[in-house]
Amino acid sequence: MELRDYLVVIDRRKRLIGSTVLITTIVAAVVTATMSPSYTASTALHVATPSSLTTAGVLGTTDYMDRLQNTYARLAASGQTRTAIKKKLHLSYRPHISVKLHPNTELMEVHASAGRAAVAAAAANLDARLLMAQVRELGNETLNDLDAQFRQQMASLQTQIARERAPYNALLALSSPTPAQQAKIADLRTDIAVKVGAATQQEAAYETNRASILDRSNLLSVVAPASAPDSASGPSVKLAVALGLLVGLIAGLGLAFLFENLSTRMEATDEIEDVAGLPILGAIPMAAATEGPLFNSGSPTEESFRRLRTNIHALERAGSSNLLLVTSAEPNEGKSTIVANLAASMAQTGQSVVAVDADLRLPTQHEIFGLPNVVGLGSVLRGFKRLEDVLQKAPGGIGVTVLTSGGPLDHPAELLASSAMGDLLRDLSKRFDVVLVDSPALLALADALSLATEAPDVLIVVGRTQTRREALLSVRKQLSAIGANPLGVIVNRAENVPSYNYYTYNRR
Ligand SMILES: Nc1ncnc2c1ncn2[C@@H]1O[C@H](COP(=O)(O)OP(=O)(O)O)[C@@H](O)[C@H]1O
Ligand SMILES: [Mg+2]
Repeated sequence: MELRDYLVVIDRRKRLIGSTVLITTIVAAVVTATMSPSYTASTALHVATPSSLTTAGVLGTTDYMDRLQNTYARLAASGQTRTAIKKKLHLSYRPHISVKLHPNTELMEVHASAGRAAVAAAAANLDARLLMAQVRELGNETLNDLDAQFRQQMASLQTQIARERAPYNALLALSSPTPAQQAKIADLRTDIAVKVGAATQQEAAYETNRASILDRSNLLSVVAPASAPDSASGPSVKLAVALGLLVGLIAGLGLAFLFENLSTRMEATDEIEDVAGLPILGAIPMAAATEGPLFNSGSPTEESFRRLRTNIHALERAGSSNLLLVTSAEPNEGKSTIVANLAASMAQTGQSVVAVDADLRLPTQHEIFGLPNVVGLGSVLRGFKRLEDVLQKAPGGIGVTVLTSGGPLDHPAELLASSAMGDLLRDLSKRFDVVLVDSPALLALADALSLATEAPDVLIVVGRTQTRREALLSVRKQLSAIGANPLGVIVNRAENVPSYNYYTYNRR
């Protein structure tokens, strides 16, 4: 398929696409409008930079702060926190929590959504409190670990100092120590001083660590507590409508192409042309309700017959006979209407035209032209009448000669297949410039096929959206089986008939 084909399908199925879009949009709008509203409240928190970091490089600080804020965001929106809020506020659901970080600032916002405005505000504030408590709790755990570690280290240093201090004190108590003992005293003193120094250092480090941990557990503070929002934050009807439109468009297009593939009734003139493998000789639009079976002069339908006439003249010039059989796959596609109007149109150019009603079971030409039908084709075939006695002039001076079917008949198939029928058609084609033969539907009865053996130049009428692909293919197959010569297709009830048909045919 080319892009143009897609556009044609979209154009053809625009009503389906339009109604799908309309339905999904309305459903989306109605569903969201009837959904209970939800409210969103937010608490703003300040994340202070730890004092130990303020002296570090800016880049490192930014990185660290990003990590910190992201950690806080995860904790604030975690399932555990939401469950805790649900319990504390006695809710039947876990409120929705989201966190907004403002890049390059020390601010973060906790958003809580709930069915009631007050609950949303309470949830946002509680979430902020729970987050702060959680951060503090984490700090306390680290502090406890640090304390335990520090105490253990100090205890071990104390024992070591005590172990050295005992011999040292004993040596000091001697009234006159030997030089060796004096040297030992000096050694021990240095040792003890070193260990005491180490203990003091560890204590200082411990204090710094402790301060930094305490500092980090208190970085968070609420700067703007949540208050109950005045209006609902959702669901957004606008958003739903936009989504409805989008989904509807996608679904509509999908359906359009699906139907296009499933449908075997042909709609597009191009498609009919492709399936028939024949030129389109004419496209007759749907007549206005005010028009009779013979279309009003100057109407678009009448105009389309003029174009059809021109194309058929071109065929005749190219060597086809003046005896044309008009048939179609199924009844009601417009054969009789087309025979009568084409005859009238051809008569306007001064040609002598006869319209033959060879649909002996469901004759209509007499009705279309407003003629009696007591005698006609059947009477001649049975030998009751001579041809010239049953030919009638159409009333109103339209210049068409009509051979009506003539009364109800038994065995119409045999009559049409008889050699008398062949003789009669040959006789007519000698007497008139053009002979147009109306016939029954080809797939319903054998009648039309036997007619085609006598009048092999065939015009196939295809009712748009009426004829199935397979039916048209079958018509083609049956006609070629008897060696008929289908000349082209006339599309009936065509939609906005394009005026290029004439040229389409002449291009070939
Ligand atoms: N182009 C058209 N615009 C309006 N009505 C039409 C058109 N073609 C056929 N009809 C109507 O459809 C019905 C069947 O047409 P008809 O020519 O009798 O079909 P067929 O001879 O193939 O059975 C008739 O009532 C006819 O007036
Ligand atoms: Mg008919």
